Amino acid sequence: MKKITIAIDGFSSCGKSTMAKDLAREIGYIYIDSGAMYRAVTLYCLQQGLFNEKQVDEERLAAAIPTIQISFKLNPQTGRPDTYLNGENVEQRIRTMEVSSHVSIVAALPFVREAMVKQQQEMGKAKGIVMDGRDIGTTVFPDAELKIFVTASPEIRAQRRYDELKAKGEEADFESILENVKQRDYIDQNRETSPLRQAEDALLLDNSHLTIAEQKEWLASQFKRLTGFDEMPNEHKNPETNPQ
Ligand code: DC
Repeated sequence: MKKITIAIDGFSSCGKSTMAKDLAREIGYIYIDSGAMYRAVTLYCLQQGLFNEKQVDEERLAAAIPTIQISFKLNPQTGRPDTYLNGENVEQRIRTMEVSSHVSIVAALPFVREAMVKQQQEMGKAKGIVMDGRDIGTTVFPDAELKIFVTASPEIRAQRRYDELKAKGEEADFESILENVKQRDYIDQNRETSPLRQAEDALLLDNSHLTIAEQKEWLASQFKRLTGFDEMPNEHKNPETNPQ
């Protein structure tokens, strides 16, 4: 069956990654979390002391960017891909509040975006990919056959993020999470290079009041509409087909 490219863009913390991962697993496609790549570059900057307050040393980062290798490997325990920075598993470390509060600055740098977009296009060359992010349908894969733009209210997104942190046993403060969500929305939508916006041919999905099951059903119907592929394989049947 002919494989397509699926681009899922939208605001932070609106469940894009979970949705994209589940879809990829069900249809046997490769999943790439492009946000994890910007987070890994941010972690690199923090580790190397490239931040001074909220400013990043652009000159040193530009010199280092060709040496920053980001890859994904399936974690057999979770059945999901982990992010690697120069060969080291950083999946946990890129999800901290420290990285979250610095990542928009790094993701706004044109030379960082250029390097990441190049790597992402390389990963999607053979199609059969679900990639989520902010500029996938507009910049990375403007010819993607299926483009989805996901949104939900800032309060609902902050609550989800709060619940997620609490479930992991981490400290969480709702007001500061909400502030972080709003701040990231603003930076993502107003940066000069590849600002977050809905591609003209993207389908809008507001999942504020949708259950996971309803959302899955909607996604499956969009995929079937385009590919005619009616039968979703069992999600755990063949994780080897989704090694990324
Ligand atoms: O989806 P996320 O929250 O993990 O993304 C982390 C940051 O990276 C977020 O501030 C937006 C940015 N990002 C981006 O600019 N372009 C992408 N394709 C993906 C993420």
